[in-house]
Amino acid sequence: MVTKQSKMEMQIRAISPQFDKRIVNYLSDLISKHENKKIIIPHTAGGEHNILLAGEYAVKYPLEYPSINPCYDKRRLIYEFNIAQNLEKIGLNVPKMFAVCSDEKTLFLIMKKLHLTPARELNRQQITEAARQFHYQINLAKTKGFNPGDTSISTLESLESFYNYGFCVENNKGYFFDFSKWVQEVD
Ligand SMILES: Nc1ncnc2c1ncn2[C@@H]1O[C@H](COP(=O)(O)OP(=O)(O)OP(=O)(O)O)[C@@H](O)[C@H]1O
Ligand SMILES: [Mg+2]
Repeated sequence: MVTKQSKMEMQIRAISPQFDKRIVNYLSDLISKHENKKIIIPHTAGGEHNILLAGEYAVKYPLEYPSINPCYDKRRLIYEFNIAQNLEKIGLNVPKMFAVCSDEKTLFLIMKKLHLTPARELNRQQITEAARQFHYQINLAKTKGFNPGDTSISTLESLESFYNYGFCVENNKGYFFDFSKWVQEVD
């Protein structure tokens, strides 16, 4: 008989065999409690996903809860997981990817939480550094066969904004996130 627990373990094994199952279960439970408004976890939503910020983890799952198209959602999150890992290999700053999992309600991507400061709160020197790293990293990705997705920066005075990119003032590094529209050319 396939129990709920072993079903989840099969799903996890498919993408990240070594990731701690207890953390997966804990985060699955957090999503459920957050969605059922039993507790409110710090979160930030994009156009299509919610991101829960829990300890050292950022957990990304579709805004529709329960998921209305699990196969499609799973494919998208696995795609994102793989692109991020491949970008990390060529030296881009991306959140560490830990696992893509499913429970009975949704699919979720577990990654490392980034500590990003909104662009409008950065000083001029930090904006300049964020922009320098953005262009350097985009060029590196292109030379290594990636077509960057919807990511951009505007560094005009009084109109600073970043899209799917952010700057961490603690370590002075610019990070990319949200890889659903990045493409890796195959040779
Ligand atoms: N690893 C992370 N750590 C901390 N915050 C994150 C992380 N990944 C994403 N975020 C935050 O969550 C927000 C939404 O994430 P993301 O862009 O991946 O979702 P989306 O729904 O695909 O977005 P879009 O609106 O571009 O479709 C981001 O703008 C960012 O602020
Ligand atoms: Mg986004």
